[in-house]
Amino acid sequence: MKKALVVYSGGLDTTVCIPLLKEEGFDEIHTVTVDVGQPASDIEQAAARAAKLGAVHHIVDAKAEFANEYCVPAIAFNADYFGYPLSTAIVRPLIAKKAAETYKEAGPFDVVIHGCTGKGNDQFRIEFGLRLHAPDAQVRAPIREKNWTRTAEIEYAEKVGAPIGQSREKIWSIDENLWGRSIEGGRLEDPSYEPPEEIFEWTKSLQDTPDDPETVEIMFQCGKPVSVCGKNMPMLDLIMSANELAGKHGVGRIDMMEDRMIGLKARENYECPGAVLLIAAHKALEALICAPHERRFKDLVDKEWADLVYKGLWGDPLYEDLSAFCRSVQQRVTGMVKLRLFKGSATVFSRESPWALYSEADVSFDDAAFDQSAMDGMVKTHGMSSLLYARLKARN
Ligand code: ARG
Repeated sequence: MKKALVVYSGGLDTTVCIPLLKEEGFDEIHTVTVDVGQPASDIEQAAARAAKLGAVHHIVDAKAEFANEYCVPAIAFNADYFGYPLSTAIVRPLIAKKAAETYKEAGPFDVVIHGCTGKGNDQFRIEFGLRLHAPDAQVRAPIREKNWTRTAEIEYAEKVGAPIGQSREKIWSIDENLWGRSIEGGRLEDPSYEPPEEIFEWTKSLQDTPDDPETVEIMFQCGKPVSVCGKNMPMLDLIMSANELAGKHGVGRIDMMEDRMIGLKARENYECPGAVLLIAAHKALEALICAPHERRFKDLVDKEWADLVYKGLWGDPLYEDLSAFCRSVQQRVTGMVKLRLFKGSATVFSRESPWALYSEADVSFDDAAFDQSAMDGMVKTHGMSSLLYARLKARN
């Protein structure tokens, strides 16, 4: 008996894998869908399609783990890959980890299948995650193996009667989790094409946002947001409420050119309202707390982290090293940030912390605590090497 496990979203790419495996002689097919905050209708659709295709379906609820173990670091590292808060990228390692758990629990399996194409980043992230957590698994990506186009997949699905719903009419390829929504494909592949309003679901268009600004207070403890507008919440609820608040004011739409791992440029659209809001607040607090050198170094660390996470390398030794540094900084990132949400922007207007590296007495124009005359010598020697260089140039 041949047995396969499909990492299953219920979409076109993963659905066509099932009849394909049957043709190859697999007689027991399991599907696993990991719930990371995609719409309930996606989860239901996956279950229904798996049932229709005779697969043994597993659903793993990983929402809280995603919020606590993946979104929390994304906030601490101010997740930013050229403007993208890494919403799809951070969830792939978790999906791979959960699929590996199903692989062990419901196995043994002859093969683990995922639906990635050969053009994107997810193939790297998912396969690395599977190799990390299920080193003995044989991993295959049939769409990539076959070099299938979307049209070829639809034709095959129609030929074998696989349930793919409205795939011909559905022009957008959407990936969604708690941390954000990515929309690709169709006419969006032309970078000069303006995204139509219909692609957005989490964020209001500026015409439809409230005409009055709204104030949000976010309280952080050791780099972690713990309450929004005075209400303490578990991380999962906090992120959902941040999504709702910011989305209502049109915050978090991102339209960008992205450099994929394999070197292709791609036009990407994201909606990440909660991520944009929480990261703006977290950054404002770090700016109040961190020492100048520490802040500059943290910036570099954030960039390195984003690069590793974009590549899905959560198991890398550098990942652990960066995390150790970040943890040390976050011990002091405690305090309150207030922001104003209005017409697409989240603007910080107030920040306070017991760890603020800030002295109003010293910086104030109205206070004599700091002896200005002590600056004389320091200012007179500032730019010494630049002056020496200017003199040299004048002589030669
Ligand atoms: N470009 C983004 C990333 O690589 C989003 C990819 C969306 N993936 C998808 N299968 N639709 O992280």
